[in-house]
This record gives sequence, structure tokens and C-alpha cells, in this order.
Amino acid sequence: MKKYHKIILAYSGGLDTTVAIPWLQEETGAQIVALGVDVGQPENLWSAADNALAAKAVKSFFIDAKEEFALEYVLPALKANALYEREYPLISALSRPLIAKKLVDEAKAEGADAVAHGCTGKGNDQVRFELSLAALAPKLDVLAPARHWGFTREDSVSYAKEYGIAVQQNSNKNPYSIDENLWGRAIECGALEDAWFEPPKDAFQITTDPFDAKDQPRVMTIEFYQGQPIALDGVPLDLVHLISEVSRRAGACGIGRIDHVESRTVGIKSREIYECPAAIPLIKAHKALEAMVMTGDELAFKATLETAWSRIVYEGKWYSPLKKAMDAFVETTQEKVTGLVRLKMYKGSLAVVGRASPYSLYDEGLATYGAGDPFDHAASEGFVKISAMETTTLAMQELKAAQKTETKAHESPDLAVSVT
Ligand code: ARG
Repeated sequence: MKKYHKIILAYSGGLDTTVAIPWLQEETGAQIVALGVDVGQPENLWSAADNALAAKAVKSFFIDAKEEFALEYVLPALKANALYEREYPLISALSRPLIAKKLVDEAKAEGADAVAHGCTGKGNDQVRFELSLAALAPKLDVLAPARHWGFTREDSVSYAKEYGIAVQQNSNKNPYSIDENLWGRAIECGALEDAWFEPPKDAFQITTDPFDAKDQPRVMTIEFYQGQPIALDGVPLDLVHLISEVSRRAGACGIGRIDHVESRTVGIKSREIYECPAAIPLIKAHKALEAMVMTGDELAFKATLETAWSRIVYEGKWYSPLKKAMDAFVETTQEKVTGLVRLKMYKGSLAVVGRASPYSLYDEGLATYGAGDPFDHAASEGFVKISAMETTTLAMQELKAAQKTETKAHESPDLAVSVT
């Protein structure tokens, strides 16, 4: 392997990225700087940083990037109502571009000649890291030890022991591969690989089983300003706290569980379980407000763009010109997405039960079927006639052709087939 002077490693505190420290050192002769990025994962990153030092990283630290993650990565996704394959709120796909950015910043600050991540060759995250790194620092070398070492979990454990790295008690028992941040939790592997098998209770951590949730419905009102949620039940909150609080409340009601067979960028299907007790209600509320303030044309066009946005972000093209252009469009559409949405949650069900906006296009007077309706019913007659013009012309033509066929068939049965 090529030799390096200093490598910045995206560090999670888990077994694989810890094992990567001595492995990279040995293979490349480089000093390893372990960089943890806090995007709202529950791990104790302070003690994780110590693990990296114990594994002989020359430096180990973490950056609290929760606010940046919320405002610059999660918020654009919310404004785009982003759900990959209409299901997945892009949890991991949103954090990787930010972690890549932090790696580049640190590589510049430290004068490092390479960066590294712990992704395997089968997943999407390697693609996201490396496309982001290519866009931000095309000259920087990127190393992916897990694509080279061919370790099984047992190999990693014995390698760790050989290098005196403490292996957590539960790391053998935990059967899942987890990635978590403010926007939700992704659970893969283990028993879940059987797509027919219902996820066991222990797969879920941040949502209550709907069956066990309280028998009382819970209501919450979310206030938006230009597409951004700014208050919960009248209490103004910064985005990080608002997301966490929505997550807590909706999670307790069993909201946000997703079980999806997903099309990965590398061409394989994977069975994915997600818990997204913040993303699902916030996207639902945001959509409900958009439906009230945006024109039908805007909504229809935006829906097609949302699908494309979700797809390119899933594929790792966060720092692409197309994504930038789409964001500009989305931003324009958000100018009037201001108002309140009331959600009702009950044992896993989620419903919008009210909405209000100073920019509402919904006019109760016009919509009513009651008395005092100002809508000009007579004007509809001409509108409908003209709207039906093409359909009428086509149907008349078909009718005429059918009649002709009938006449010919009557005169000469042999000809009938050739006349249409
Ligand atoms: N399938 C999801 C995605 O591609 C989740 C990936 C989770 N990553 C992980 N290392 N467990 O975005």
C-alpha cells in the first residue's frame, strides 16, 4: 500500500473504525487522526475519542456538528419532503456529505495527505463519502480499509485483541448494524436480512411498539416559517431541539417505523428497518402546509423534483450542480410555507387534523357547498365544455369509425377486418 504521512479517519467509536487505526498505521506508515462528528448519534463520543487514543491515534477529537447538520443538511431535505423510494428519509445519506466536509477541513488544518472512512464495499455510504470528497477535495487520497482487509466480524475482534484494543462486551451480542443521527435510526443486518421475518422488538430503540403505546391520542402543533419548523405547541425551539422533541413525543406514540426493501446504489436490494419519529411527522406536517399555500401547478412540479432530489442525494451527489439548482427551486417555493399544522398521534397512526396560514389559498367561502357561496356555477358550463373539447372530438371520431365498420361489415363481411 502507498505510504502516507498523516491520515484523517472518520471515526465512529465502533469496532471497525477503531481497528482501522492500527491497520492504517501499519499499512501506510502514517499517523492517524481520529475525527468523530456529532450529528446527533446517541454514542458517548467523549469516551469513543479515548478509544481511538488507546488504539494509538496521534490525536482524537469530535466536533459538535448538530446545528450545522440540522440547518444545512436536514432542513433542505425537509423542504424537499425527501423520501427515497417514497419511504426512506435519507438519514445516513444526509450525514455523510457533512462528515466528508469535516474530513476535508481537518485534512487542510493538519496538512494530512489522505482521509479514510470505515465503509465496506457493499453499501451506499462509501459512495456518499467518496463523491463528496471528490467534489470538495479532488486531490486528496481516500482510503477505505474495510474494502481491503476482508475481515469478518470475528477477524476484527481478534485483530483488535492482538493490538490491545478493548472490545465492548456487547459488540458481539449486538446483532445489527446501526447508523443514527438527529433525523432517525437505520437498522440493518442480522435476523433482518430475511425479508419475511418481522423485526424483533429489540431492533427498535427510539420508538415505542404501537401496541404498547398509550391509549390516549396526543396532539402537537408545529409552527413553520418559510418551510422551517420554528415552534412546537407555541414554544419557539431551535431546529436541533425541535427535531429531538418531536422525535421524543412521536416516538412514544409509536410513529415513524419503516420496513422497506431498498434499491442500493451498488445495484443490490437490501431490507432496511428505520425509526424516524421526527422525520415522518415533520414531513407530513410540512406537506400539509404546502398543500394549503402552494398552487396546484407548483405542487405537481415540486413532487417530481422531490423524487429526483431524494434519488441524487441517496446516490451521494450532495455537492452536485443539479442538487444546487434544485435547492434554489425548492427555496423559492418555501417563501409562503408559513403557518401552523396540528397533528394527532395515536398508537402508530398519524393524522393532520388542522392547518392555518396567512398565505392560505384555501378559501372556505369558495369551497363551501353551503349558503352564500360566491362561486359562479354558471361559468363552469363553458369551462367544462371547452375542457371536454378534445375528449368529445376523439369520442365522436371513434363513434363514426365504428359506424362505418358496421356498415361495411354488413355490405361485405370479408372487408370488415381491414377497415378500422
Ligand atoms: N440503507 C441506508 C442508506 O443507505 C442506511 C445505511 C445505514 N448505514 C449503516 N452503516 N448501517 O442510507
